[in-house]
Amino acid sequence: MNGHRRNQSSMNVRRRFRNQGGPAAVDAGSIANGVRHPILGRYRAVVTVLKTKRLTLRELTLDDVDGLLEIFADPEAMWAYPSTKDRDQTEGWICWAMASYQANGWGLWAVVRSEDGRFLGDCGPMPQPVEGEQVPELGYHIVREEWGRGYATEAALACRDWFFANTDYERLVSIVRPPNVASRRVAERVHARMRLFVWEKTGTQECLYETLRSDLLDARLDTRATIVR
Ligand SMILES: CC(C)(COP(=O)(O)OP(=O)(O)OC[C@H]1O[C@@H](n2cnc3c(N)ncnc32)[C@H](O)[C@@H]1OP(=O)(O)O)[C@@H](O)C(=O)NCCC(=O)NCCS
Repeated sequence: MNGHRRNQSSMNVRRRFRNQGGPAAVDAGSIANGVRHPILGRYRAVVTVLKTKRLTLRELTLDDVDGLLEIFADPEAMWAYPSTKDRDQTEGWICWAMASYQANGWGLWAVVRSEDGRFLGDCGPMPQPVEGEQVPELGYHIVREEWGRGYATEAALACRDWFFANTDYERLVSIVRPPNVASRRVAERVHARMRLFVWEKTGTQECLYETLRSDLLDARLDTRATIVR
């Protein structure tokens, strides 16, 4: 599906959603009142996936567009991407995650600071094409104002552990542009190994970080208990 068509359809989805009354304001990080799922068109609870010491990870909803735009519209945060994203593209991003929750039971989740409900970004696995296969890829984005506080590392470690505990997959990867040092530091903590490869999606050389289920037994991997609930 190309970006334009997805964005157009997400706009239509959003419009339909609003016309149907839309959701009430949703409490971050809680099982809140049901909201109408924009794709399925039926009510669905806002789902908390996991909690760490400081963070709550929950499913994204279309109410998170402004939170994500704090990252996606910020050229400094998006320097490693081809461009920033506008509102429609960000809605398309959330719909992509929601479709993955439905298809796979997992996807990019909202990262919220538990103590005050501050929306910090997203983190979670999404299917990506890697060397001819669809592979779960762990991604993360944190608002610039909150960088350097260990939030991405804390969220990504918890997502990795959640993923192997709650799915049958043998492999989780992260794909990072080589000069993106901050992202590589996170991936080095989360994953067991890295090699360079040319990603078919972009045609560019990227770092392919990888963890296999069996790597979790390796004492060198950071396996601090990160999920508190
Ligand atoms: C990558 C990103 C998610 C990291 O978020 P964060 O919450 O600041 O990450 P953490 O605080 O957990 O720290 C990450 C590590 O990178 C280091 N780091 C942070 N900024 C850095 C920089 N500009 N240069 C070098 N290292 C940096 C930190 O010191 C830390 O390493 P350490 O644990 O060894 O000290 C954040 O920078 C971001 O959202 N970037 C834009 C989106 C993006 O590129 N996402 C990744 C796509 S592959």
